[in-house]
Amino acid sequence: MKTRRLGDTDLELSVIGMGTWAVGGGGWRYAWGPQDDEESVRALLRGVEMGVNWIDTAPVYGLGHAEEVVGRALKEISPPPLVATKLGRRWKDDGTIYGDLAKSSVKEECEMSLRRLGIERIDLYQIHWPDPEDRIEEAWEAVAELVEEGKVRYAGVSNFSVEQMERVRKIHPVASLQPPYSMLRRGIEEEILPYCGRNGIGVVVYSPLQKGLLTGKYTREKVAALPEDDHRRGDPRFREPHLGLNLELVDRLKRVAERYGKTCTQLALAWVLRRGEVTSAITGTRRPAQIEEAVAAGEWELPEEAAREIEELLAEHERKTASLC
Ligand SMILES: NC(=O)c1ccc[n+]([C@@H]2O[C@H](COP(=O)([O-])OP(=O)(O)OC[C@H]3O[C@@H](n4cnc5c(N)ncnc54)[C@H](OP(=O)(O)O)[C@@H]3O)[C@@H](O)[C@H]2O)c1
Repeated sequence: MKTRRLGDTDLELSVIGMGTWAVGGGGWRYAWGPQDDEESVRALLRGVEMGVNWIDTAPVYGLGHAEEVVGRALKEISPPPLVATKLGRRWKDDGTIYGDLAKSSVKEECEMSLRRLGIERIDLYQIHWPDPEDRIEEAWEAVAELVEEGKVRYAGVSNFSVEQMERVRKIHPVASLQPPYSMLRRGIEEEILPYCGRNGIGVVVYSPLQKGLLTGKYTREKVAALPEDDHRRGDPRFREPHLGLNLELVDRLKRVAERYGKTCTQLALAWVLRRGEVTSAITGTRRPAQIEEAVAAGEWELPEEAAREIEELLAEHERKTASLC
């Protein structure tokens, strides 16, 4: 598997990373339906076996459960992959999730993550959301202290704007940004990606398959049959009038992919990796077959002709989407 250096750090990340949001399992506000922990562990082990060298998780995924499952997988892997987790999303006993960036909360969260993951140091510790926004400096100071204490190797942010990165960089270097990026969500292309490229900030993009939509494996029937506690039921991209247009686009993307002997999943991953500022694409991994398919994209460079054709399809899709409003 190809690797890219994470910004100015000395971490070499495989261009495909494994995301564990769905590994958190069912029964919480942002669940992806029920999940078999054994299968999650098998998927993570399979990914590492195939060359993926890093896992992204967060305490809030399954309210602590995803980190525990990652911890179980880590026990079975030697040498261990790099582990990235996050801070700043807390929850109450009734499952309500809220943002907390107080220094004491960050320190407490770090201890709990280390315990659940069964590790002594977090390779990449990211502020999950700039929420509450007026406390990002306070949280960043706490993370800088954790680096000093040896509990964290590198500090990153997620869902931050350029202005927010500028604010925290004055306190401690920003190793990486974790933003959303896919053919259906291109908001970072004009300002954020060039800024990160210029400033030695690595970029690890999330939801490159737009939560599965761009795999080409979703149909209206499959979406209608999503479990009751799969949060995608409420996602506008999985609902009409957008769903129909998205499925129509995916049908056309599939035909492009087939011409290169690839799947739509591989096309979508290679497409985000065409941007040099992107260090790695984090794809949701809860079944071994999913990561097996994704890994092949890490070896493939998107041909320029395919990129041009995709650009045309996306422009047309955007026009149709805009006309809905
Ligand atoms: N920082 C943040 O705020 C933030 C936000 C979102 C995500 N993330 C991170 O980024 C990771 C990736 O995001 P995501 O989970 O939305 O990623 P994604 O890769 O866009 O979508 C993942 C989903 O797509 C389907 N899928 C994946 N590979 C497939 C394959 N080869 N064939 C068929 N279906 C496949 C699976 O859904 P089914 O199994 O249901 O089919 C999988 O759960 C998360 O797990 C999390 O670690 C971070």
